Amino acid sequence: MNIHTFVDNPKFYGRRRGRKLSKSGQLAMKYGKDYLIQEGNISNIFRYPKNIVLEIGFGDGENFINSAKTNPNSFYIGADPFLNTTAKCLSKILQYNLKNIVIWPDDVRKILKFFPRKSISEIKILFPDPWPKKKHKNRRLIQNEFIKIIHPIIKKQGTITIATDHDILKRWVLEKFQNYTEFEWIAESPYDWRSRPNDCFQTKYELKSINQQRKPSWFIFRKK
Ligand SMILES: C[S@@+](CC[C@H](N)C(=O)[O-])C[C@H]1O[C@@H](n2cnc3c(N)ncnc32)[C@H](O)[C@@H]1O
Repeated sequence: MNIHTFVDNPKFYGRRRGRKLSKSGQLAMKYGKDYLIQEGNISNIFRYPKNIVLEIGFGDGENFINSAKTNPNSFYIGADPFLNTTAKCLSKILQYNLKNIVIWPDDVRKILKFFPRKSISEIKILFPDPWPKKKHKNRRLIQNEFIKIIHPIIKKQGTITIATDHDILKRWVLEKFQNYTEFEWIAESPYDWRSRPNDCFQTKYELKSINQQRKPSWFIFRKK
């Protein structure tokens, strides 16, 4: 895949809409619109020298929202193209009156090119869609092009955490990052990749995976 196709014209295969938004979801979309990033104002986010965390595919927002609530001195950017989850998170953001969070309600690949170099301290990708069939491997988010794009925007010693319970994706992620030597896998023992890191909250997909007797892995790679 060509890197320009990857960032300029990415093809998204997931769902963008689910059930019709509830009344509260519609209100959240209306009153929470200032929390939505517009392409033209992305640079505003980076004006303040904060610890910036990017969560890709925040889903119902258990980790995204709780992290922002717990760490008021960090700033959280979440990306997810699924409208219903954006509405759900906006509703929680308004409920808790959070000031350190914004949402890009679309494919993350479309905004990464606007991020300044060394602007992000951490990236979290919790239970990305695995696309386990071989014929769908190009649909997986983690690709060589993805790693090439995120490398410059992460700060030195910054990290990327990827959680998954699919064996095929586990192998795929490790292989991709091990081929890219500017990142190091920081696990020292199996305990490190078998347990959820202290700074992550349990998400819907982690719970689903545990209930179905699958074993999630947590891979943390650090930029050298
Ligand atoms: C399997 S769900 C996991 C949700 C959540 N992280 C959790 O653990 O419960 C994957 C999420 O990633 C989102 N997603 C898929 N591709 C994406 C992309 N290119 N950019 C941003 N989000 C994406 C989907 O819309 C979906 O909400």
